Amino acid sequence: MALVIVLANQKGGVGKTTSTYNLGVALADIDQRVLLVDLDPQAGLTFCAGVEPDDLEKTIYNCLFRNLPVNEVIISTEYGVDLLPANIDLSIAEMQLLNVPARERRVTKIINEVRDNYDFVLIDSQPSLGLLTLNALTAADRVIIPVSCEYLSVRGTVALLRFVAKVRGQLNSKIQVLGLLPTMFDTRTNHAREIIAILKTQFHDIHLFPFTVNRSIRFSEAAAQRKPIFESKVQVPGALAYRELARQLVKKGGE
Ligand SMILES: Nc1ncnc2c1ncn2[C@@H]1O[C@H](COP(=O)(O)OP(=O)(O)O)[C@@H](O)[C@H]1O
Ligand SMILES: [Mg+2]
Repeated sequence: MALVIVLANQKGGVGKTTSTYNLGVALADIDQRVLLVDLDPQAGLTFCAGVEPDDLEKTIYNCLFRNLPVNEVIISTEYGVDLLPANIDLSIAEMQLLNVPARERRVTKIINEVRDNYDFVLIDSQPSLGLLTLNALTAADRVIIPVSCEYLSVRGTVALLRFVAKVRGQLNSKIQVLGLLPTMFDTRTNHAREIIAILKTQFHDIHLFPFTVNRSIRFSEAAAQRKPIFESKVQVPGALAYRELARQLVKKGGE
C-alpha cells in the first residue's frame, strides 16, 4: 500500500510543484509506482507533467464531487508517473466542500480507491490553509515542506506546522512531518546560508534534509518544456537532491 506524502507550505513559489513532479519522476526512475495528485486549481503539476489542464474534461474535481471513479481520470505520463490531474474547475471546490458530508475526508476517500496500486502517492497542495489543504493533510501519512531559502518562506513554514499539529490532534493522528527541504538555495548569497541556520535553530525538532535544491534557471526552463529537471542537457546540481530524496524514501519508507 502506498505511502501518501503531501508537499506543502503556506507560502507560494517555494518549489512545492517542482518538488512534487521531480521527486515523483526520481522515484519512478528507481522502479517505484508513483501517483501524482494535483490538488491545486492552478494546475501547475498537471502542466509540468505534460498535460494541458484546459483540455481536460475529467479531473480530480469530478472524482471529488461527481463520484467519478479515480481510475477513469488517472493519466499515464511520458516520464513514468501517473497523474490525477486538476484544472481551474477545482477553484470552486473550497466552497463546495463546505456543503458535503465528511468534508475533510473527500481526498482520503478517492486516494483509498487506488492506494494499493502504488508505492508512493505524492500530493501537490495549494499555498493556502483552506479545505483542500486540510483534505490533503488528512489523507497523508507524511508531509514534506519545501522551504525556499528566503525569510517569508520560513514564516509560511511556521503557519503550516501549526496547521499540521491541529490536523494531527483532530483528524489524522498518524501524520508526521518527514522533513524540511531547502529549495532555491543560492550558493552565492549569505542570506541563503543564514536561512539554513535559522531553519536548524527555529525548527530544531523537525528533520532538515541534508541536501539542498540549488537555485537554477534550468528549473523554470524544464517546467516550460514540461520535462523533469533530469532531462536538462547540463547537469543541474539541484536535481541530485531529488534523486537523493527518492533513494532515501525507498530505503527508509516513512521513517
Ligand atoms: N530550484 C529552483 N531554482 C530556480 N527556480 C525554481 C526552482 N524550483 C522551482 N523554481 C521555479 O520557481 C517557480 C515556483 O516554483 P513552484 O514549484 O511552482 O512553487 P510552488 O508550487 O510552491 O508555488 C517556478 O517558476 C519554478 O520553475
Ligand atoms: Mg504549486
